[in-house]
Amino acid sequence: MELSKQSMSTSTSTLSLYHATTHAQIVDNHQSSLDSDQSMHNLDNIPQIRSLPSQVQIHPITPDTVKSYRGLITLLLPIRYPDKFYKEAVANTSGSTLARVALWDDTPTSSTSLSRKLASSRVVGGIQCRLEDVPSGPPGEFQLYIQTIALLSPFRQLGIATCLLDSIITSIVEHCDRTTNIYAHVWETNFEALEWYERRGFAVEDDVVEDYYQRLKPSGARVVRRRIGIEHYLAVKGRRKTTTAQQVI
Ligand SMILES: CC(C)(COP(=O)(O)OP(=O)(O)OC[C@H]1O[C@@H](n2cnc3c(N)ncnc32)[C@H](O)[C@@H]1OP(=O)(O)O)[C@@H](O)C(=O)NCCC(=O)NCCS
Repeated sequence: MELSKQSMSTSTSTLSLYHATTHAQIVDNHQSSLDSDQSMHNLDNIPQIRSLPSQVQIHPITPDTVKSYRGLITLLLPIRYPDKFYKEAVANTSGSTLARVALWDDTPTSSTSLSRKLASSRVVGGIQCRLEDVPSGPPGEFQLYIQTIALLSPFRQLGIATCLLDSIITSIVEHCDRTTNIYAHVWETNFEALEWYERRGFAVEDDVVEDYYQRLKPSGARVVRRRIGIEHYLAVKGRRKTTTAQQVI
């Protein structure tokens, strides 16, 4: 199914909590559907998802979590975003924007209901993306731009950011067949982030975008980019005829 940018929203079922268990299940499904395709497709840049700590949940941004998300982004990223940006981050009633938060809850899993757990969770990370036309690309072809991705430092190195990224890619692949690549700007001296992207199959483009970060010195950005290819569509949608999948990419 091909959806326009305007109608790109994530269904409620897709946006039900993206829990570690669900992740593991998705990976299993990916694997079984891909086993016989491995010789045909490069699987290197499909995120290798491992299970996350049980305290973590990935969730759409709601009116309850947007304030914490905003605080986190303001703290960790060198760009000041306007109110409009955060309004766009909040999921609407029928679905969601391309934004997620990682919630951390220390209360034992069995002791509370899901709604209580959400209420007692705190925002420890977030991601926000937008869908764009591909410049000079064929009409109806899109690319995904990562506007923000950040985690509070005590919650790094647990796979949470990888899970946030994968949640967005999964959602876009499910809803918009013609998204061909995903990219981001990274401060030119933010080697930690540049290497994080590289380890997830992104290539760092050669040119520096000068004066991209007005509040930083040096002020340049590097663009990191990764193809969203047939393997992602196959992985997310399960087995489908190769010819059909090739037609949409
Ligand atoms: C960029 C940033 C979000 C990455 O955070 P991170 O904690 O390193 O990333 P993850 O949560 O994906 O953790 C990855 C590491 O956790 C480890 N890990 C542990 N459990 C894991 C799991 N279940 N799944 C995947 N990785 C796991 C892996 O070893 C992995 O290390 P690797 O990158 O060497 O493969 C973080 O550095 C940050 O917030 N930086 C400040 C903001 C910023 O610069 N943002 C980018 C600007 S565009």
